[in-house]
Amino acid sequence: MTEKVKLVIGDKTYELNVIEGSEGEKAIDITDLRQMTGMITLDPGFANTGSCISTITFVDGERGILRYRGIPIEQLAEYSSFRETVYLLINGRLPTRGQLNQMSMLLNDHSLVHEDMRNFFESFPRGSHPMGILSSMVNALRSFYPELQVTEEEINITVTRLLSKVRTLAAMSYKISRGHKVVYPRPDLSYCANFLNMMFDSPVRPYRIDEDIVKALNTYWILHADHEQNCSTSAVRVVGSGRVNLYAAISAGIAALWGQLHGGATQAVIEMLEELHQNGRSVDRIIARAKDNENPFRLMGFGHRVYKTYDPRAKIMKEMCDKILEKKKTHDPLLDLAKEMEAAALKDDYFVEKNLYPNVDFYSGIVLRAIGIPTNMFPVMFAIGRLPGWIAQWKESVDDPMWKLNRPRQIYSGPGETAYTPMGER
Ligand code: CMC
Repeated sequence: MTEKVKLVIGDKTYELNVIEGSEGEKAIDITDLRQMTGMITLDPGFANTGSCISTITFVDGERGILRYRGIPIEQLAEYSSFRETVYLLINGRLPTRGQLNQMSMLLNDHSLVHEDMRNFFESFPRGSHPMGILSSMVNALRSFYPELQVTEEEINITVTRLLSKVRTLAAMSYKISRGHKVVYPRPDLSYCANFLNMMFDSPVRPYRIDEDIVKALNTYWILHADHEQNCSTSAVRVVGSGRVNLYAAISAGIAALWGQLHGGATQAVIEMLEELHQNGRSVDRIIARAKDNENPFRLMGFGHRVYKTYDPRAKIMKEMCDKILEKKKTHDPLLDLAKEMEAAALKDDYFVEKNLYPNVDFYSGIVLRAIGIPTNMFPVMFAIGRLPGWIAQWKESVDDPMWKLNRPRQIYSGPGETAYTPMGER
């Protein structure tokens, strides 16, 4: 029998169905609430609101669990490749060898971008943030590849184009921003190795593929591939619910991800650590600043809306920092500072009481620096990683029998009806 909850408003009692997910989390179904009671719910930031029923990603923020299609993130990080994880998220199951080969072939076939798109790149002012450029370029893809996205085949081609071309566009934006020659994708290289080659190969210094660096990038992108209904994914779903084309919905996701509280945090963490390092400031001082209620400053890379314990992705990233620096036989003083900051925060009452732990962004920047990625490209790296999640969530929403145009309501608190005042009387 369906579990029900009772809602009492005045002298009336309403019964609402309880919906239970496959991991036991429960929701009160308020689909008919307004129709039944005339009332709506108010939930700023949607902290208590489920926007959909999804089969893609499971997060348990209290126990620090993250799974894609049921598979723990730790196992994917260790055994999978980014390409395979992309297939898993979008198709719902791990690929066979044949399916993976077929996917690689298609990604290769679609990896070039229309030469005319270079004119766009040239028109952005020097110094433009690569995230703004990427969001615009992805939106522009629709004009260059205007096919319909109705049949499954058309949607699949658009998905492959996006996965392949976003990687090429990101590397192109970096090369052009430096005034360097664009490097084209190569058919003999894997998804991650190809990206690294397009970023760093140059006529005067050929790039040598290092399998440990490729593995680090695979892991970084796997960890970022999906995270259920986060800010940018919700943006993709909300914008997509108006039935815009997939390119426009993804472009909206990129714009949302750019923010400092979301995908922009990796860049902000490194800037915070660099400032600390350059000015010789103490970790205690920055912690005191983050705790000060009068100061809007926050410890970047700390805290999470869902995780109230250590983010499982941050654990993997922290280990990756040590591995990659050891492999490169280099030392990054920012890693020492980050570890010192984590230790100080985790024994500070403010952070303990509020359950503030390092999130995925805290150690990611140090791995990206070790790979050679410039700081302003960090959000772009996050966007390439999150792309399969956005696509999987968009596809799920398009096929959802419960689909509706996303259109929240509000409680109006402005002035009552007010007569228009003619210009001369104001
Ligand atoms: N430093 C200092 N205080 C913090 C921090 C922080 N990083 N994060 C939260 N708090 C405090 C906050 O001031 C508030 O205190 P009070 O209850 O006294 O008002 C309390 O903790 C709860 O914070 P909140 O803003 O209500 O919680 P939230 O769930 O809305 O915030 C967050 C989540 C990620 C926006 C926030 O923790 C934050 O701003 N962190 C820094 C930015 C960051 O690292 N973002 C990346 C998030 S993970 C990757 C991703 O999803 O993109």
